[in-house]
Amino acid sequence: EYILQNDKLLPKKDAMIHVDDRGYYFGDGIYEVVKVYEGKPFAMEQHLTRLVQSSHKLDIKLPYSEDQITEFIHTLIEKNTLKNGLVYFQVTRGVEPRNHLYSRESTPVFTAFTQPGHSTEDLQQNGIDVWLTDDIRWLRCDIKTINLLGNVLVKREAADHNCQEAILHRNGTITEGSSSNLFLVKDKVLYTHPATNLILNGITRQLIIELAQNNNYSVVEEPFPVEVLEHADEAFISSSSVEITPIKSVHGQLTTTFPIGPVTKDLQKKFKELLP
Ligand code: PDD
Repeated sequence: EYILQNDKLLPKKDAMIHVDDRGYYFGDGIYEVVKVYEGKPFAMEQHLTRLVQSSHKLDIKLPYSEDQITEFIHTLIEKNTLKNGLVYFQVTRGVEPRNHLYSRESTPVFTAFTQPGHSTEDLQQNGIDVWLTDDIRWLRCDIKTINLLGNVLVKREAADHNCQEAILHRNGTITEGSSSNLFLVKDKVLYTHPATNLILNGITRQLIIELAQNNNYSVVEEPFPVEVLEHADEAFISSSSVEITPIKSVHGQLTTTFPIGPVTKDLQKKFKELLP
């Protein structure tokens, strides 16, 4: 198994991380996760656009152009003969002695690896149980930073309650999942949190909104309170890894169930048509 470290392909066991990498001791870096279908990275351009946006928001200079990164990723997928799975890539601010104040002098470090896909088809068909809990993250959830402590804590909390995802609310307003966006369906209208600083604007989310609008569904991007969950007809989460996955029950601060409804199924079918 090979990984990319800067522009070098090398066996994973030979890769070295510098102890003074700011990504290592501050989580000072950004990342993307791209799904690979039949050896092809899906929506690569959109992911790179978001990586560039994250880099601007964090004042990190990307070490390579979008075209170079695309080429690197294709080479890595080929080298690992990955057919279906994920490619992960990150850029940290670089190596300097620990100091909260960054210098702007360090050279960012690029790392990429692949993961063979475990199928999420079963979840997509049968749905998941989710855990409703407080959004304990910071106020820049729009940045795809590798610093994910809030996300990992709520994911563990969900798993400890036999749920596959945590759905978060900030002072009673639903934001998103720990590693996914959330959509509700009511009377054939889709509801999701607007793309503000309080959520990550998922690439899958953006594709679903476009797909829905092209198929004559209305999409309302407005904040909604927790109680609205109880009145929804259907609910699903979205992300690169799980695509559109229905929610069958909510536990925790509110309890409710959903059928795997016609709108979710229709969007799942249409989303599959976008894939390679
Ligand atoms: N997570 N919201 C959060 C907090 C996420 O971490 C993710 C993705 C999404 C969905 O974004 P997209 O549709 O672009 O994958 C929303 C990735 C898959 C991860 O960290 O593994």
